[in-house]
Amino acid sequence: MDPITVFDKERHVFFLQVMLDSLPAEYETQEINTLTLAYFAVSALKILDALDLVDKVQIVNWVLSFQAHPKDESELKNGQFYGFHGSKSSQYSDADSKVSGHNGSHLASTYCALGLLKILGYDFSRIDSESILISMRNLQQSDGSFMPTHIGAETDLRFVYCAAAICSMCDNWIGMDKGKAKDYIVQCQSYDGGFGLVPGSESHGGATYCAVAALQLMGFIEDDILNKFRPSSVINVPMLVEWSMQRQAADGGFNGRANKPSDTCYAFWVGGVLKMLGAYQLLDRVALRRFLLSCQSQYGGFTKFPENMLPELYHSYYGFSALSLLEEPGLNPLCVELGFPL
Ligand code: FPP
Ligand code: ZN
Repeated sequence: MDPITVFDKERHVFFLQVMLDSLPAEYETQEINTLTLAYFAVSALKILDALDLVDKVQIVNWVLSFQAHPKDESELKNGQFYGFHGSKSSQYSDADSKVSGHNGSHLASTYCALGLLKILGYDFSRIDSESILISMRNLQQSDGSFMPTHIGAETDLRFVYCAAAICSMCDNWIGMDKGKAKDYIVQCQSYDGGFGLVPGSESHGGATYCAVAALQLMGFIEDDILNKFRPSSVINVPMLVEWSMQRQAADGGFNGRANKPSDTCYAFWVGGVLKMLGAYQLLDRVALRRFLLSCQSQYGGFTKFPENMLPELYHSYYGFSALSLLEEPGLNPLCVELGFPL
């Protein structure tokens, strides 16, 4: 098969419509992430300027149906997080008869739900954001990190980012202790300039995006952007830019960490970091575009690596996002730190 060298928007829109209509069986194991998969499809359609093809009201009502509501004021103080469930199976013990299960609200689902509502133009004054934000404080740990659910699980930069994005979308920072969150993020910067998911761990493109985007949303790196590449009191920007630039490989693509092959998604995760730092012009844009186009599937959408055949939603979403950062004609611009177009 000849490599695809043009951006075929119509083919991509068709792929996304099919995904939104009914997901292939391979996605069955990702049922718990239903809301996230919908976020990828809908937000990608917005990037492609094709959101008119979906029934916005229907999707808004569907998204709202995943919100967990405390019964009363006292329930709000029971230590649980009242956000959004990721899917019907995490919301109901029996999805068919809608028998309520436990409160399985998750920070990543809540980020995707609120992102979807923003993209669809929903008026946020109609959401009970106070209960989301007040109860989200229960998830922040003494070191500043966040757990994704009140039941527990790993605490790391991904959930600090989700919490910051949720506060930013609700335009209300009562949901977190910003100072503690900042201290945690700063501790995650590694000796090589990148960020690991937890203090002391290997630098990774995804974690680095979460760190920089969260600091940006919290208003902590404004000065760094203005004083580009000068040492900052918050994080070491020159080393961060250097580490990020080293992620672009000879094939034009980006990897997420040293000694790994180029992968579509890091063109956004690491490209986004460079964009937020005002250093995007340093990368080889022509080579990156060529790499991304080579990861397009003949069925529409993107694959993780150029040699793959079948597209999937995650890499498709970040492929479109990366091309939007490159200002591909016909694509809507992104709010880089929130990760979707406004
Ligand atoms: C390694 O997977 C993956 C991680 C260390 C997590 C990375 C974090 C993100 C992608 C950000 C998530 C964003 C939000 C908004 C919650 P791997 O070993 O399969 O990847 P690799 O081989 O490419 O390094
Ligand atoms: Zn990837």
